[in-house]
Amino acid sequence: MTLIDGKAVANAIKEEIAQEVADIVARGGKRPHLAAILVGHDGGSETYVKNKVLACEQCGFTSTLIRFEDDVTEEELLSQVEKLNNDDDVDGFIVQLPLPRHISEQKVIEAIDYKKDVDGFHPINVGRMSIGLPCYISATPNGILQLLKYYNIETSGKKCVVLGRSNIVGKPMAQLMMQKRYPGDSTVTVCHSHTPNIKEECLQADIIIAALGQPGFVTADMVKPGAVIIDVGTTRVPDSTRKSGFRLSGDVDFENVAEKCSYISPVPGGVGPMTICSLMKNTLSAGKKEFYK
Ligand code: GUN
Repeated sequence: MTLIDGKAVANAIKEEIAQEVADIVARGGKRPHLAAILVGHDGGSETYVKNKVLACEQCGFTSTLIRFEDDVTEEELLSQVEKLNNDDDVDGFIVQLPLPRHISEQKVIEAIDYKKDVDGFHPINVGRMSIGLPCYISATPNGILQLLKYYNIETSGKKCVVLGRSNIVGKPMAQLMMQKRYPGDSTVTVCHSHTPNIKEECLQADIIIAALGQPGFVTADMVKPGAVIIDVGTTRVPDSTRKSGFRLSGDVDFENVAEKCSYISPVPGGVGPMTICSLMKNTLSAGKKEFYK
């Protein structure tokens, strides 16, 4: 079994990005600038955004963090989005999700200029991704593709089961794994809360990508020997032995599944670091106007 080291791969990619940024700046070009909007004080979102800002420093990007309290109105948030759309210095920006319930996430996502949508959540980017056109691809699925590529994992003709159908991970992941290219060319099945025979589906899979948010959901009896297991779960579970009071738990019963499979990504240290790294790649693309003028 090979342990997929997302942290090491992400660090290597961030170093490449930093080198490219140094070259751009040395040639008199503009330093890429990522802005992030964070609403409220959700622990998970705070950590993600803090890590995104840190990653910007590692890559040599300029970053701006814009914070609002939980009671910000939809109108105020939309007006901030509009400001960033029109700010020529900002190459790309994200609005950290989830948002408070009184704000429509979809409305906010659609208000973002798709040319600056480095999260790849805008319907134009989602549509372009699904038909294989150049665009910002959402960070978690793209990070997983980079891991498959880095470890030279065969995907062509393989049966890939995606667990979960979220707009952020499951749906784009399924689309990407069926694209006519590497990594891709897989036969994809998407399972979700209304799938009656998940165990049987998983047992046939050469690759399982688990993105349900249910700790330990994938057990050893669901895994074909030699399968590739990608764990996207990052649920906080209480743990009194930790200073923080919690630990991150994946969707896979790692201990028992690890000995059955060929590759497995751990939590933490697997997909998580790659997600942020993909956002950095998208920001570099935005700075270079790679996809849109
Ligand atoms: N919340 C969980 N994942 C993400 C992400 O990739 N981007 C944003 N903006 N919010 C998230």
